[in-house]
Order: sequence, then structure tokens, then C-alpha cells
Amino acid sequence: MKDVGGKTAFITGGASGMGLGMATIFAEAGMKVVIADVREAALAQAMKTFDNTNLAVHPIVLDVADRARWVGAADEAEKQFGKVHVLALNAGVGVLGPMQAATYKDWDFNLSINLGGVVNGLVTFLPRMLAHGEEGHVVATSSTGGFSAVGNAGLYCTSKFAVAGMMEALATDLRGTKIGASVFFPGPVQTSLGMTTHEVRPAHLQNEAVATNIPGQRDARPAPGYDTSLFMTKEEVGKRVLHGILRNDLFIMSHPEFREGIVARNEALLRAIPDEKPNVARAALIRQFGSLMHNPIYDAQTKVPAEDF
Ligand code: NAI
Repeated sequence: MKDVGGKTAFITGGASGMGLGMATIFAEAGMKVVIADVREAALAQAMKTFDNTNLAVHPIVLDVADRARWVGAADEAEKQFGKVHVLALNAGVGVLGPMQAATYKDWDFNLSINLGGVVNGLVTFLPRMLAHGEEGHVVATSSTGGFSAVGNAGLYCTSKFAVAGMMEALATDLRGTKIGASVFFPGPVQTSLGMTTHEVRPAHLQNEAVATNIPGQRDARPAPGYDTSLFMTKEEVGKRVLHGILRNDLFIMSHPEFREGIVARNEALLRAIPDEKPNVARAALIRQFGSLMHNPIYDAQTKVPAEDF
């Protein structure tokens, strides 16, 4: 998208943290913004931040895991602000703990929101966005745990790697349309993820036998003593996401601190390739059935100049 002024954004998990940061920055850039969230009281609290502003923000109560509610939420957004151009699939929970201790309920809670919520958003909104024919963009919030595995966060990483793959595949499928797609990989940001994860966990997905989500669980909140003032603010994150949308970046990477981890993983992948020549005939066959051994969407990603921030 070259210009977002007057366009509409639909942001999930918009009542707090990064979703609210995006809402503020998008609205300040002249967008009409829907903040959708499962926590009604938090939505009301978030709306207070827009009191005494002339920003166009509308709250909608939506559990992103509830497929039946999505159509109603999309209809309400369109009724309020017209066609939706930017879809920010950002709602998420931070289920932590060792994978060997995870229960089906832990998996279902984690996947229904972090992955299912993104699936539901795409199925609901993509046909609408393509049908109205105007420029648009889909951005999904992954995590640095979506490109590099983190200990004690296997369920989270599973969902966040999946979200990254989805957006890369979506950007590939949407080539030639007016809709772009990005995956956002934030590092530590000042948000309330640890607290909200506990708050939004539905009764039917609570573990019966244990008091906490997973035995040995670490809270998603940083342990006392961490200087969270060094974490990025939600508004800074919002600016970086808007910047990525306007550039049509495939990857939106807020934290330069993770360069080393990206290099380490990609170098490990390269080292794992058998040290032998590719079979030319097999390569031709793979090409024939349409598989992309070299997807051009990766070449389209350009450098992000430091002076942009
Ligand atoms: P947050 O907890 O402040 O915001 C998340 C919002 O999602 C909350 O308002 C919550 O009510 C909402 N939500 C949770 N379950 C929902 C559901 N079923 N339906 C609708 N809304 C739901 O936390 P934060 O950090 O802003 O989280 C946003 C995204 O960023 C998440 O996807 C998270 O995994 C991701 N992330 C967070 C990082 C951090 O350092 N805080 C780092 C990397 C990724």
C-alpha cells in the first residue's frame, strides 16, 4: 500500500500491547481502526486512550478462536468504517513450559489462538479484501521465536513458525493482486502478554491436574530484576509495522539484536545440505510440477535503512 490515509484497519488483540500500539499509530496516520479483542473491559480501557482525540477507532468484542463470531465482526467493521484494507492478525498468548510436559489442553489453547486466530482472520477477510479490489495488506504477528527455536517455549514456537510460513506462502499466492502480506517478528516489547495469557484461557482448556498451565512453567512476564524499560514500546512497534506495510516488506523485523540468531539458523541449514551436486534432471522435474526451489518473494525484500527510525 502506498498510502493508508482514509483506509480501514482491523487489528486483533487490539485492546493492549502491540495491537493497541499499531491502532494508535495507524489512526494517527489517518486510518479508521477497528480494535478486536476477547477482553471487553480491556477494550473499554483502550478506548479511553482515544478520548479527547479525533482518531477514528471502534472496538469489537471477538474471540479469534471463535469461527462463528468472525463473520459478525467483519460485518460490523464494514458497517462502521467501510471496506477493510489492512488486516493485522496480532492476538496471541504466551504458553510456556517444556514440550514434554504439555497437555492436549495446552496445545489446543495455544494453537486455537496463535494459529487458529490467524487462519480464521484470513478465511473471513481475504475474500472480502480481494472482492473490493482496492490496495490492501495482511500482517500477522509472529515472534523471534518464529524463526529461531527458544527453550521452554516449544508450543509458542510451533505456532509462531507456522504463522511465518503462512505469511510467506500467502505473499507468494497473492503475487499479482493488490494485497500484500508480511510477517512481523518482534523481540521483547513492553506489553501485558504474561498476564493476559492467564486471563483469556477458557475454562474448558484449563488443565485439571495442575495449578499452572504447564508443570515447570515460566511466566511470560520477565522475572523481577529485568530492565523492561529497555524493551521496545508498543508505539515504536506500531511505527515499524506501518513502515513495513508501506514498503510491502515480506519480513518486518523490529529488533536488530536478533541478527546473530538468524545467521546461526540459516548457516546450520546451509551446512545440512549434502555436499554433492544437485541432480539436474530431478531439478527440471521439480520445476515442471511448479515447485519453487527459489521463491522470488525472498529477493523482493530490500534492506531497511537505519535512518528510517
Ligand atoms: P498483550 O497481552 O498486551 O496483547 C495481546 C492481546 O491479545 C490482549 O489484549 C489479549 O486480550 C488479546 N487476545 C488474547 N487471546 C485472544 C483471543 N482469543 N481473541 C482475541 N483477542 C485475544 O501482548 P502482546 O505482547 O502485545 O501480544 C501481541 C502479539 O505479539 C502476540 O501474538 C504475541 O505472541 C506477540 N509477541 C509478543 C512479544 C512481547 O515481547 N510482548 C514478543 C514477540 C511476539
